[in-house]
Amino acid sequence: MRPSFQLRPARLYDAAELHALQQPFVAQGLLLPRSPRYLCENIRDYVVAVASDGRLAGGGALHFLDGDVAEIQSLAVAPRFRGAGLGSRLVAALLAQAREHQAWKVFALTHAPEFFLRLGFTRTIMAELPQKLTRDCLGCPKLAACQQVPVIADVFALRLPAAATQSGLPAETPREQPWEAAV
Ligand SMILES: CC(C)(COP(=O)(O)OP(=O)(O)OC[C@H]1O[C@@H](n2cnc3c(N)ncnc32)[C@H](O)[C@@H]1OP(=O)(O)O)[C@@H](O)C(=O)NCCC(=O)NCCS
Repeated sequence: MRPSFQLRPARLYDAAELHALQQPFVAQGLLLPRSPRYLCENIRDYVVAVASDGRLAGGGALHFLDGDVAEIQSLAVAPRFRGAGLGSRLVAALLAQAREHQAWKVFALTHAPEFFLRLGFTRTIMAELPQKLTRDCLGCPKLAACQQVPVIADVFALRLPAAATQSGLPAETPREQPWEAAV
């Protein structure tokens, strides 16, 4: 049977479990480390997916950088739930948030560019992301050896594969309602 998940905004009580979910990927160099305190301070950026046993199956963040650009950060799906479409659904939920807040472009710096490309993102170059370059990258000790690939999407033009929006994610997402019915 396909596992079922409910996607919802993260709450402060999710911070510790989100941190634990991210740690294996941080250790592999796939995600930047985020402390529990950072997660609490920025918890409104995060969407989580809750599995039927009540545990977090995945999560990701949408961080606004300026007037019309947002970044997908810290996207992670627990290994036991990989390949079930959850990563795609999390991206769909984050894009719905971007639409709600009228962000026109969403980008990610990622070690998994193929995952984003199959959702309709395109490759870009860092020169196209001056907000990110000046805010984070230029001060980063890994800049010269950075392996992350920048990908970008036009939020209002992107048409996600049906599976990512299978339960009809609304264009505008009320913050106090679950974003998707469990499937
Ligand atoms: C990337 C990630 C979030 C994808 O989650 P997921 O739930 O497995 O994704 P989906 O099931 O929606 O994936 C759908 C497709 O993307 C592909 N895909 C998944 N992860 C991929 C990766 N790391 N690289 C390339 N393609 C990937 C799958 O093969 C699948 O393709 P298919 O439908 O043609 O078989 C997950 O692999 C993960 O947590 N990775 C580690 C952390 C990371 O790299 N995050 C991205 C940083 S922004």
